Amino acid sequence: KESPAMKFQRQHMDPDGPSNNSNYCNQMMRRRNMTEGWCKPVNTFVHEPLVDVQAICLQGNITCKNGKPNCHKSNSSMNITDCHKTSGSKYPNCDYQTSQKERHVIVACEGNPYVPVHFDASV
Ligand code: A3P
Repeated sequence: KESPAMKFQRQHMDPDGPSNNSNYCNQMMRRRNMTEGWCKPVNTFVHEPLVDVQAICLQGNITCKNGKPNCHKSNSSMNITDCHKTSGSKYPNCDYQTSQKERHVIVACEGNPYVPVHFDASV
């Protein structure tokens, strides 16, 4: 079974990106199985080495959007791509807008080892 840490990597890690093409989210949301059963409405991919994203769990501790205390904000800004489902998108034809950004990344971490399990926000 897929662990929470592996799920985070599937949904949010793409170190070799970003691709500068407007179809990035349409392709990646499908390739990473976020268009099975529904179109996941919002999802962010991080284009930095896995070790650098795992290191965020040792950086500034903040409260998550859901009120849990286990979120961490990256010290540095990171290359990310935000995927937003378009208003006209109708399952099973999931359609996304692709936006590349440089932002500080906020992730929730859990477990031993203490690793990212959820992408909370970018700021
Ligand atoms: P599920 O995997 O059970 O849906 P995301 O897709 O946004 O990265 O979230 C991955 C999982 O982390 C989601 O659960 C989400 O509910 C969960 N999650 C949200 N906030 C969390 C937190 N503060 N700590 C741990 N997990 C959290």
